[in-house]
Amino acid sequence: MNGIKHVLVGVSQAGDTVFGKAKVEIQKFLKDNGIDADVRKARSLSVEGERFDLLFYPLRLKFRGLTLDGLAEALNRAVSGEEVEIDESLPSEKMIPLNQKRIVLEHVGIIDPESIDEYIEAGGYQALRKALSMKPEEVIETVKASGLRGRGGAGFPTGLKWEFTAKAEGEPKYVLANADESEPGTFKDRVIEEGDPHRLIEGIVIAAYAIGASQGYVFVRGEHTVSIKRLQKAVKDAYERGFLGENIMDSGFSFELKLARSAGGYICGEETALIEALEGKRGQPRVKPPYPPQQGLWGKPTLVNNVETLSSVPPIILNGAEWFRGFGTENSPGTKIYSVLGHTVHTGFFEAELGITLRELIFDYGGGIKNGRKFKAALVGGAAGAFIDDLDIKLDFDSLKAVGGMLGSGAVLVMSDEADPVDVLLSVVRFFSRESCGKCVPCRVGTRMLVEMISKMKNGECRRDDLDRMLKVAEYMKLTSFCPLGQSVYPPLKSAMEIFRPQFEGLCKN
Ligand SMILES: Cc1cc2nc3c(=O)[nH]c(=O)nc-3n(C[C@H](O)[C@H](O)[C@H](O)COP(=O)(O)O)c2cc1C
Ligand code: SF4
Repeated sequence: MNGIKHVLVGVSQAGDTVFGKAKVEIQKFLKDNGIDADVRKARSLSVEGERFDLLFYPLRLKFRGLTLDGLAEALNRAVSGEEVEIDESLPSEKMIPLNQKRIVLEHVGIIDPESIDEYIEAGGYQALRKALSMKPEEVIETVKASGLRGRGGAGFPTGLKWEFTAKAEGEPKYVLANADESEPGTFKDRVIEEGDPHRLIEGIVIAAYAIGASQGYVFVRGEHTVSIKRLQKAVKDAYERGFLGENIMDSGFSFELKLARSAGGYICGEETALIEALEGKRGQPRVKPPYPPQQGLWGKPTLVNNVETLSSVPPIILNGAEWFRGFGTENSPGTKIYSVLGHTVHTGFFEAELGITLRELIFDYGGGIKNGRKFKAALVGGAAGAFIDDLDIKLDFDSLKAVGGMLGSGAVLVMSDEADPVDVLLSVVRFFSRESCGKCVPCRVGTRMLVEMISKMKNGECRRDDLDRMLKVAEYMKLTSFCPLGQSVYPPLKSAMEIFRPQFEGLCKN
């Protein structure tokens, strides 16, 4: 227990009473054992009611889903120094060594997200101070040299996008933080917004300074009420402390930041649809080019970056591009927040280096396949990703592109041998069908056709050549859809046809 600084009790939103009781017991235990650490409340995304998580920081030992009855044993096991393993004998009280590489999430669950003082105490806004002492071009060069690539899906080089926007003609310039996050199974940005909102704000102001923007918005998904509440408070506090507004940190640089609530709709996360929505219009994509760096919000140069991308920037400025390149791979440096869901022992979010294998993510972080079942496949990269059954595939931008997939949002849906791939495929295509904005025929009609065809397959009402017909529809959609939403149906469908073809054929009449 040497060096332990904080004991964090992660409770549900309604967990104040259980926190109070746990705190008294933990404080007594710490005192009796001569440990000088404080006890803090954190919000856990995985517990309900009277259950809570217990995390020792910086040792990063974690117990998940404890009850007050199990608290004494957990505390004793934590101080005993024994090797910590996932203990399957305690199904709801699992001990998880958090061997994550936390850069973006370094403060999440550790500091109070509603306290700007705790953020500053943890080194917050130092990167902004440093950036403001550099020339804007130097900030852009540092981000370019770091090799940071956008975490919103496409993996576009961030520094390059900043350079395009900085060089574009037109005033004012805008920074938009894309916090729409509406893809099923993806909740990585929400974790930052809820757990460390100042980190995002700091990244936004650095980006604004680098490109010469004077105004910005965080476009946040409307259903993310906790994110909105925390971001509102963080923006207000940042204004009061001089990190936003006029003459930021006496640098002469001024920047105004507002929140905008998304009315809903997956398409509003697409950068040009987002801009349309912000302008008060129906959220539908625009023709590209011109791209937002040239003509974005109100026709002015606009930088659109994902929340995780912007939140990766402060440590790059503080520690340098080379430091960042020390993580991940040559072409995909840094870390990624992976959301793991489905049939793993542990589901949730894990930050790890880019380029770890699917096997590592599932078995080292996810604790393996649930109920002793076998791995069948995973839908890697969110709904628009590909089904992959090769556990040794590397999770980085280029390795996944090479097999027709994409890293996308970093969501990985894990399927055991019990999963029904027809159901999974149907729910993916149904999602695209519901979210199609209707602007173009291939996507509007194609998604509906595919839902119908897959439903028929599920009911055993299809023929073998229908499988090829499905693939043809998806192929046409890829070639002719107006925006990436309609084109996104192809990777999951094509990969499903490759991996599960024998099973699909078994459902066909002839
Ligand atoms: C249908 C659709 C939905 C999208 N949703 C999001 C989203 O919720 N968040 C996001 O950051 N990017 C989303 N994107 C990608 C954005 O268009 C854009 O590429 C991204 O915000 C750029 O940021 P980055 O360079 O930091 O990745 C979406 C794209 C499409 C086609
Ligand atoms: S591809 Fe789909 S979401 Fe994109 S513009 Fe066409 S109908 Fe709308």
